[in-house]
Amino acid sequence: MLDIFKKAKENNYAIGAFNVSNLEQIKAIILAAQNLKSPVLICTSQGESEFIGKRHIRALIDAYKKETDLPLVLHMDHGKTFEIVKEAIDAGYDSVHFDGSGLSFEENIKVTSEVVEFAKEKGVKNIEGELGYLRGGSTIQDAVEIKREDLTDPEQVQEFIEQTGIDSLAIAIGNIHGVFKGNKNPHLFLDRLEEIDKVVSGNVGLVLHGGSGTPEQDIKKAVQLGVVKVNINTELRIAFTNALKNILETNLNEVTPYKIMSPVIEAVQNTVEEKIKLFGSDNKL
Ligand code: G3H
Ligand code: ZN
Repeated sequence: MLDIFKKAKENNYAIGAFNVSNLEQIKAIILAAQNLKSPVLICTSQGESEFIGKRHIRALIDAYKKETDLPLVLHMDHGKTFEIVKEAIDAGYDSVHFDGSGLSFEENIKVTSEVVEFAKEKGVKNIEGELGYLRGGSTIQDAVEIKREDLTDPEQVQEFIEQTGIDSLAIAIGNIHGVFKGNKNPHLFLDRLEEIDKVVSGNVGLVLHGGSGTPEQDIKKAVQLGVVKVNINTELRIAFTNALKNILETNLNEVTPYKIMSPVIEAVQNTVEEKIKLFGSDNKL
């Protein structure tokens, strides 16, 4: 397990994993991490990594690491094929997530094991697998129905971990990707998390995806029950877009990109800081 996860698990807090696709989002996350002295993971999904470029983001993160001394971890999020995860590893990502949740249990074990073998050989420090089915996407969602059969089955967890050799596991416990229109996202099934945590040994970290919109009390409890990483994307996208709309609508003659983007960066930074405090990873460097 990554050192930052080990420390988080021992001390009952979690690390935020924040998605990006451009320089302004990266800047915002780094400013928040610096300001609150927090470790962070900087993540790209398949689409995000294609937009920014895997080698380009690696170079940017290296530059920021040098400048800030922060333990920044570059993470591939929801790689759905061996090939995509391999591309990230070849580009130098520190940490990868193979999402085989759309596959059968057996096929998920098979491909995840192949990813683990390849990734370990290349020195990747954290390989995340996924069990259970997460609905939604990182946008504003109409009602999403959560079915109990989509939740991670604790009986499969132990076998999955043993067979694959993963370092961390993304679970489905009522979490969804995205933010529900108008109101809060549904509550988590914390009883299911407790059952899962019981069968997970100390050296595998549990991961909660779909952190945006999730009731704060549920996130706090999930962290107390063993979650070491919480993924956030939609709320950062909303902060970015709302701030951008606002500056463009209120400054019709402004055409200087860095002036337009400054309040956007600030808005994203504020959201990241709220999450860092919620997860309890502030002052943990
Ligand atoms: O993989 C990324 C996340 O799980 C983000 O989910 O968009 O609901 O915050 P979210
Ligand atoms: Zn996710």
